[in-house]
Amino acid sequence: MSLTLEINGAAHEVDADPATPLLYVLRDDLKLNAAKYGCGLGQCGSCTVIVDGEAVLSCVTPILALAGRKITTLEGLGTLDAPAPIQTAFMEMQAAQCGYCIPGMMMRAQALLQKNTSPTDADIREALRTNLCRCGTHMRILAAIRRAGELMKSAAGQLKDRAG
Ligand code: FES
Repeated sequence: MSLTLEINGAAHEVDADPATPLLYVLRDDLKLNAAKYGCGLGQCGSCTVIVDGEAVLSCVTPILALAGRKITTLEGLGTLDAPAPIQTAFMEMQAAQCGYCIPGMMMRAQALLQKNTSPTDADIREALRTNLCRCGTHMRILAAIRRAGELMKSAAGQLKDRAG
């Protein structure tokens, strides 16, 4: 069956069983490899993407549920030359050790920061409790998310100044 998925602002025609998890389509068909396969069971968070502003586990989300919805992967946030605040902050804070969980961490953090650029540590811990890191860089991840919020606020302030 063929259906259209809107990913990172572009329409993608996908020919796959409607029950196929989004993660497989992203990685195998579209070569968008930022979202990682960790457990495949909705238990680790490494496959997190954003759908209509909410963090979603792509390994347990069938593509049938996604027609007409806006899907964002890490590739859709920024580039090497123009990283998004969340990417800049994770690099600044050196929040990755092995790095495998980091795309999922960044996407869940991005979904949080899109709603609240000043989350408390308790807010961040609650939002990211579904995302596991086995290296133990949790304190740096917390710092990076706080920093990303600052960068987003500062970017929004600059836009407002330019408009005013
Ligand atoms: Fe999706 Fe682990 S791979 S939650």
